[in-house]
Amino acid sequence: MVEWLPSSSTKILFVIGDPVSHSLSPPMHNKVIRSLGLDAVYLALRVTSDMLNSFISLVRLNNVLGFNVTIPHKVAVANLLDKLDKSAELTGCVNTVRIRNGVLEGFNTDVKGVEEPLKQTGFQGGGIAVIIGAGGGARAAALALLSMGCRVVVLNRSIERAISLRNHFAGKGFTVEVKSLDEAPEFLSRADVVVNATPVGMNSWEAPFPTKFLKRGQVLLDMVYTPHPTRLVKEASEKGVISIPGLEMLVHQAAESFEIWFGIKPPLDEMRNEALRRLRG
Ligand SMILES: NC(=O)c1ccc[n+]([C@@H]2O[C@H](COP(=O)([O-])OP(=O)(O)OC[C@H]3O[C@@H](n4cnc5c(N)ncnc54)[C@H](OP(=O)(O)O)[C@@H]3O)[C@@H](O)[C@H]2O)c1
Repeated sequence: MVEWLPSSSTKILFVIGDPVSHSLSPPMHNKVIRSLGLDAVYLALRVTSDMLNSFISLVRLNNVLGFNVTIPHKVAVANLLDKLDKSAELTGCVNTVRIRNGVLEGFNTDVKGVEEPLKQTGFQGGGIAVIIGAGGGARAAALALLSMGCRVVVLNRSIERAISLRNHFAGKGFTVEVKSLDEAPEFLSRADVVVNATPVGMNSWEAPFPTKFLKRGQVLLDMVYTPHPTRLVKEASEKGVISIPGLEMLVHQAAESFEIWFGIKPPLDEMRNEALRRLRG
């Protein structure tokens, strides 16, 4: 068998962020790129905020098919592109860029990353959705849940950021409610769907809120994917809450990005297995 080697015509993909060395995107995408025999390679590139403009200029000059964007560039990148699709325009955040004929177009595949796993639990939409957190992940969750017909309630540590999220969506014609964290027990117990969009629980055994407020039959999505499962997912599942680990969001957002770049639906199981293998070290 002739081994694949990159050449000058190989298509290049990146994930950019700062930090970015922990990213599971390169192994997930490269696994599928190789198994489908595509002439492409996906690399992690640390890009600091002051380098973002230079990075965008460089990708325009080179054989770059696209890139993923992670913390802290999801909002800043949206302002440097030629076009935004609906998901990026409505959230004001970009996690995926496609470069075609020199045109850079931004997408937010985190929205699908929230929507798909929820649908796979049988959740049909409607009811009350509570989002804890008000950053980029929360914006993606809000758009997904609004488009599924939910009443969306956001609770965040800093009320200012929650209000900024509410105002952003109001500007797009959507209603998002903001409540104080003191009201968390009431809203968590009344929710049909709960999303953790904070990093609490990442690489620790903390939970963003006590699972005593959750009830059997509710649906929970924890965006945090390491450890797998998180304390929140473990305790909620034990209570009979339909719990979706962050790994599912990770895999579905990656699959959507892959399809945007290559026009092919990737094998989800291969992506999931590769991510799991890395998570289990
Ligand atoms: N599974 C996936 O595919 C996926 C996709 C996207 C994001 N994520 C994960 O989701 C998490 C949030 O990402 P993001 O991009 O939305 O981050 P972000 O923009 O930095 O927002 C973080 C949010 O969490 C809140 N927060 C941070 N530390 C907290 C603490 N100790 N206690 C309470 N609230 C806290 C912040 O509140 P303040 O406003 O008060 O600072 C903010 O609202 C991260 O862990 C990220 O890795 C996962």
